Amino acid sequence: MAHLETVVGEIAAEMSARAERGTVASYIPKLAGVPIDQFGIAVTTPDGAVILAGDATVPFSIQSISKVFTLTLALGQIGDELWKRVGKEPSGNPFNSIVQLEHEHGIPRNPFINAGAIAVADAMLSGHQPREALGSILRFIRFVSGDEGVSMDEDVARSEKETGFLNTALANYMRAFGVLQHPVDHVLGVYFHQCAIAMSCEQLALAGRYLAFSGRLSPGGPSVVSEERARRIAALMLTCGHYDGSGDFAFRVGLPGKSGVGGGILAIAPGKASIAVWSPGLDRHGNSVLGSLALEHLAKAMRWSVFAG
Ligand code: DON
Repeated sequence: MAHLETVVGEIAAEMSARAERGTVASYIPKLAGVPIDQFGIAVTTPDGAVILAGDATVPFSIQSISKVFTLTLALGQIGDELWKRVGKEPSGNPFNSIVQLEHEHGIPRNPFINAGAIAVADAMLSGHQPREALGSILRFIRFVSGDEGVSMDEDVARSEKETGFLNTALANYMRAFGVLQHPVDHVLGVYFHQCAIAMSCEQLALAGRYLAFSGRLSPGGPSVVSEERARRIAALMLTCGHYDGSGDFAFRVGLPGKSGVGGGILAIAPGKASIAVWSPGLDRHGNSVLGSLALEHLAKAMRWSVFAG
């Protein structure tokens, strides 16, 4: 543990000194103003320790990281039926791409590209109003993070709605194919609000514990999902969690991870740790530059890659 604390501290110090940080997402106007010079990291281990460094307690917009939690909830609601409406394959395309949808009859490649997450939001609306679906998302995240303070940033949700022309196109396209079963504005209302949830690295690392510890909040602790479900969600994070940068992330880091354009990444070292990193500057795929680098260093120093023998 002393070793882990030293490694995390060294990584935070090194990241603070880095000049090359990528660019902050600007297509969502509310995110464009987030100062780029921030870096946070939180690591939680099976014994319940939470190691923090840098800006680990500063809330940021989790954006696409929310797709991990909505996938968990939708699988809980409709189970494997979900896989009739969304695939499990890497897309090799940008997160907001529309090109595959026509060839593949409106069925998105995976639940982490925007089209897939919008289809998951639609599934969550079965038998529920948008307000209820959003309530269940917040309740779930508060439960798994053990923090009632997690909330949605209405300004970010509104900002995205006002400029979300591509997501609106994706949703209409899927609705035309019958993949979406609810009104497009209801589905997008859920999707924009889930993306606008604000969390710190500390809260996010805690929220990821059930994926790191076989579906439980701690080894032998309260169960959130079955071991098999946790393993499958982590598999999709590894293959699809960084969009068309997923191969590169697996190559460099070797851990299941999910990125968001707010600059956060949730990564899972199965049985060993749940890790959240945040730095708002992004690479061309929309993944945090310093977040990816920090995870690369951490996985190497701790020998946490899932491919380490
Ligand atoms: O729909 C969008 O474009 C954003 N709300 C989420 C995209 C995102 O986070 C992509 N991740 N790196």
